[in-house]
Amino acid sequence: MYPEIHFLLNDREIRISEHPAVLVLDYLRGSERLVGVKEGCREGDCGACTVLVGELSGEQVVYKPVTSCLMPVGELYGKHLVTIEGLNMPHLSPVQQAIVDEGATQCGFCTPGIVVSLTGYLMEDHQEITKEGVKKYLSGHLCRCTGYRSLKQSVDHFKKTLDNNKGIGFLVANKMIPAYFREIPARLRRIPEISMRKEENTPDFFIAGGTDIYLQKNELLPESRICVLNGQPEMKGVFKKNGYLHIGALTTFEEFAQHTGIIRIIPYIREYMFQIASLQIRNRATLGGNIINASPIGDMTILLLALESLLVFKDGERSRTVPITSFYKGYKQLDKTSTEILTEILIPEPVSGVLINFEKVSKRKCLDVASVNSAMKVRCEDGIIRDIGLAMGGVAPVPLFLKATCQHFLGKQVSGELIEDAFPIIQKEISPIGDVRGSACYKRLLARQLCIAHFTKIFPEKVKVRDFYGTH
Ligand SMILES: Cc1cc2nc3c(=O)[nH]c(=O)nc-3n(C[C@H](O)[C@H](O)[C@H](O)COP(=O)(O)OP(=O)(O)OC[C@H]3O[C@@H](n4cnc5c(N)ncnc54)[C@H](O)[C@@H]3O)c2cc1C
Ligand code: FES
Ligand code: FES
Repeated sequence: MYPEIHFLLNDREIRISEHPAVLVLDYLRGSERLVGVKEGCREGDCGACTVLVGELSGEQVVYKPVTSCLMPVGELYGKHLVTIEGLNMPHLSPVQQAIVDEGATQCGFCTPGIVVSLTGYLMEDHQEITKEGVKKYLSGHLCRCTGYRSLKQSVDHFKKTLDNNKGIGFLVANKMIPAYFREIPARLRRIPEISMRKEENTPDFFIAGGTDIYLQKNELLPESRICVLNGQPEMKGVFKKNGYLHIGALTTFEEFAQHTGIIRIIPYIREYMFQIASLQIRNRATLGGNIINASPIGDMTILLLALESLLVFKDGERSRTVPITSFYKGYKQLDKTSTEILTEILIPEPVSGVLINFEKVSKRKCLDVASVNSAMKVRCEDGIIRDIGLAMGGVAPVPLFLKATCQHFLGKQVSGELIEDAFPIIQKEISPIGDVRGSACYKRLLARQLCIAHFTKIFPEKVKVRDFYGTH
């Protein structure tokens, strides 16, 4: 018998006893026959399986769109799961009406997921409905037949009725979402907290956001002993202590990018997110999962590497801290035992004047993994580089910290010449191979170009792209 999972599904209270690794998508379509949740790619790419997951946050419930094809049912405890069926009313909702009015559906396969995501957008407490907001919520949806123009135009319809809305209360009062949403906070509070977490002592697998492990081990998980890490609230959140920003390993990409403490040190972090996965994936993907999956092109890993973060591991009562710069020993070889859990990532609090830039080149501008990615942090005093961290992905078997290149820059004045002198050092440090994302030669070129991009963006008054025309 598996531990009971007690949650709300649309307007119903549910208690199930399933293997915790069963996918929410399979549970919904197989056991509940809620087939409005479509199965497309099963890889988080198409968005057809999108559902809303609501969690108590103070007095309110905050809803986020996620792909149900990469989420374990074990994580539903104490949450509100909303499918397209749970948005049904005797009349059309504003999102459904906008889709009808704009002719934004043909075969309709993608439509339920899109309605769910855009409803999630309207349920946010925001001052204004924007084109950017609609685009962000559509980012994880593929539509094969209608295209996106008519969907983007739906923003004008929402604006007419919904600008300055006050979120869920307003939508319920105006019959734009079903009335049962009003009772959800109280109903969730009645679910006892006590069994929020029951885990295997010696699991075969840990699951955090599931956005990587379900692609790698999908067949094995429902037959294995697993530990769903997301039941551990102490591994979430961001706070300052002893000169470090402490970031729980379960912090998702989106939570990281929206946190004011993070925005203060990485001002463009929200812009970078447009190049990283889709909203539904960023709502699930954790920083810890990105570091441990050890992909040489993990975007957050590269950023945290440039920031020279520290990793805190726990194994029962034992705890140890490892610099991320020495964590990767070879392709998918880590300085970590199989029972250790990454609990926290510590970013040294930058002294004032630290500037950070992130660059990513991929085949598609959005929703694609990198051919090469790179991040740089740098601090100058009186024009002299006093601190620098440069990391690159896709150029070695591991996410790479360019130690020798950093050494070259330290103690020197920023100039075009200094950067050009760094190119041969970079080429010596990297060892890219050719693959579907580009030839080794192309990646070597990108390494050079991304170094130029960092400096020209961070020091536009000192170096310009044209300084490097014709140099190789
Ligand atoms: C459609 C799609 C698009 C994507 N786009 C991008 C992208 O643009 N950029 C990018 O970098 N990645 C991308 N990814 C990859 C993935 O989302 C990230 O690597 C993510 O950070 C993985 O985190 P997770 O929490 O989902 O990990 P999981 O899948 O839960 O776990 C990954 C591995 O880490 C282990 N693990 C996780 N957390 C811990 C912990 N705290 N302690 C010990 N072990 C742990 C798990 O056991 C597993 O082996 C994409 C994935 C999908 C499906
Ligand atoms: S089925 Fe395609 S994202 Fe889930
Ligand atoms: S309407 Fe057919 S896939 Fe979008």
